[in-house]
Amino acid sequence: MSILKIEDVAYVRFRAPDLAEMRGFLEDFGMTVTQATPTRLVARGAGSFPVAHVTELGDAGFAGVAFRAESLADLQRLAAAEGAAVEALDLPGGGSVVTLTDPDGHRVDVVAGQSPAAPLPVAKAQAWNRSDARDRLRATKRIAAGAANVVRLGHVVLNVSNFRASEQWYKDRLGFITSDEIQLSPEFALGAFLRCDRGEAPTDHHTLFLMQGRKGPGFNHAAYEVADLDDLMRGHQRLRDAGRHAEWGVGRHILGSQVFDYWRDPWGHTLEHWTDGDLFTASDGSNIASVQDLLGVQWGPPPPPTMG
Ligand SMILES: [Fe+2]
Repeated sequence: MSILKIEDVAYVRFRAPDLAEMRGFLEDFGMTVTQATPTRLVARGAGSFPVAHVTELGDAGFAGVAFRAESLADLQRLAAAEGAAVEALDLPGGGSVVTLTDPDGHRVDVVAGQSPAAPLPVAKAQAWNRSDARDRLRATKRIAAGAANVVRLGHVVLNVSNFRASEQWYKDRLGFITSDEIQLSPEFALGAFLRCDRGEAPTDHHTLFLMQGRKGPGFNHAAYEVADLDDLMRGHQRLRDAGRHAEWGVGRHILGSQVFDYWRDPWGHTLEHWTDGDLFTASDGSNIASVQDLLGVQWGPPPPPTMG
């Protein structure tokens, strides 16, 4: 039994030496900056969680991941079990935080009690006309050019030095369930896609992916859900027009089924746009998958060697 069962991932933290440059990238990527001080930049998506991306002024690097707990009581239980403190969270929306360190030294914030932000307007999706289902009749489809609408952070991928040790650490504390475990052989697992335990409520195929790779521990990527496929594609064009660094996409993953599009921020951190992912409940079980399933696509280009 885990100490708590998190609801979702919340935000990621980075350091960067030029906050104006980061702001330009985030706006091309489709986030809204809500706080810009000389030393910190905070951005949100269009959904109701008030924070999606935090940058502190400093040497470029990944600085941590945050997960959302259901309640303050969960945070108090976690703090007691870990010998940590429940502190006020100094970010838009307020709330409380317990800060932990995972087995590879990554900072992990577990947060609760944030005041929800008013959702930002996102153009209403128009129906698709399929060859076998004409759902948009006597109406045009017009997609305005612009950045994608990032709605929320959907998952984070961390490179770890020992998959089994990290898996145990995250499962024991935050209640993750394995969706797909990536095995090189029956004796050796490289990593796993982990989803939240929301009982019978459907949740994303993965909220956290842990991967034991050759590069050693570190940040792999953070993935933001956008409104829909049209939104992802117009966002792709915006990032291209702005001269941003495209990494991999557009394609459709096998595990999780998302349509994906990976970009790099000005310091090389990978951020992903995704849409149309699989949703499962706690009772949907776990699967074993291969590296070919992990890196393969249903359509789209193969992964570049830089990926991960
Ligand atoms: Fe991803």
